[in-house]
Amino acid sequence: MVGIRVSTINKNATQIKAAVVSNKRVGQYHQLIINIGDIASACKPGNFVAINVGGENSRMILRRAFAISRVSVNSTFGGTMELIVAPHGQGSKWLCAQGEGAVLDVIVPLGKAFGIPTEPVQVLLVGGGYGSAPLFGLAEVLNARGCRVDMLLGASTASKIYAPMEGKRAVNSLRIYTEDATMGQSGRVTEPIPGLIADLNIAVIYSCGPMAMLAAIDEITRESDVVHQCAVEESMACGIGICMTCVLPVSDETGNIAMQRSCIDGPVMDGSLVHWDKVGKVL
Ligand SMILES: Cc1cc2nc3c(=O)[nH]c(=O)nc-3n(C[C@H](O)[C@H](O)[C@H](O)COP(=O)(O)OP(=O)(O)OC[C@H]3O[C@@H](n4cnc5c(N)ncnc54)[C@H](O)[C@@H]3O)c2cc1C
Ligand code: FES
Repeated sequence: MVGIRVSTINKNATQIKAAVVSNKRVGQYHQLIINIGDIASACKPGNFVAINVGGENSRMILRRAFAISRVSVNSTFGGTMELIVAPHGQGSKWLCAQGEGAVLDVIVPLGKAFGIPTEPVQVLLVGGGYGSAPLFGLAEVLNARGCRVDMLLGASTASKIYAPMEGKRAVNSLRIYTEDATMGQSGRVTEPIPGLIADLNIAVIYSCGPMAMLAAIDEITRESDVVHQCAVEESMACGIGICMTCVLPVSDETGNIAMQRSCIDGPVMDGSLVHWDKVGKVL
């Protein structure tokens, strides 16, 4: 088994006013670059942000959660973060309509980050839809640790694949799967995983995407020594551990099932501890 160093939760979380630097359409998503200044250096792959949507007089009182795709520091804008947003309901559509210079109310960084192996090992990153977003920043960190990084991306169709050119440099190989065969190979992204675990001697799988995909990866890794770190995506109301809307059934240290809050006990969790068959059911 590989040692994993885990980060402390929300100790750097700050509410800030942050200006949109750019907003570009990429397939079915919007790539937003937002100026967050010095806080960029406190953001780690797996952290998320909670953004106020709708403007000052909006009736949308709940903040919306988005994974931080990448952070960077440059001389023109200082620290920036990248978000990949799917225009889904009212709040995310409002965010996707914000142009350069719009000022957002953001709480950043939130949640538990991905654990990084203490030794250089072979890792596999698996992203579904916009779930690939935080994996490119993670690939850079894993590369710096000396890990061999291979990546699988999957979606129902080509326009839902997010695979930026610059992100590909951080991975040894990238395979794309679409269910309608409009990009890469035809089929589900989980299909090649058993073969890759054996061929590449994979020690850790990092995944981010729909809950059904995370559950399917757990099914594959359950009987093996492969560590599965997954970023779960449960609906969140407060995002900071107060309301209990985001709970998931997870084994605690005594082996009992406890309802853990995916906003502060996650979103990155050990996939083998989540009771995937009980998610969404009353225990
Ligand atoms: C950790 C995390 C990371 C995410 N990362 C991304 C990302 O990178 N890109 C992306 O496009 N999307 C991401 N999402 C999903 C994104 O948060 C939703 O698409 C967004 O909240 C939808 O808001 P909306 O107003 O567009 O949709 P609507 O459906 O109109 O509103 C959704 C709002 O209702 C709340 N809500 C819904 N169901 C419940 C419930 N049962 N209990 C309490 N509140 C509820 C939601 O939390 C949200 O605030 C992420 C979600 C999480 C939790
Ligand atoms: S979203 Fe409120 S406790 Fe997690």
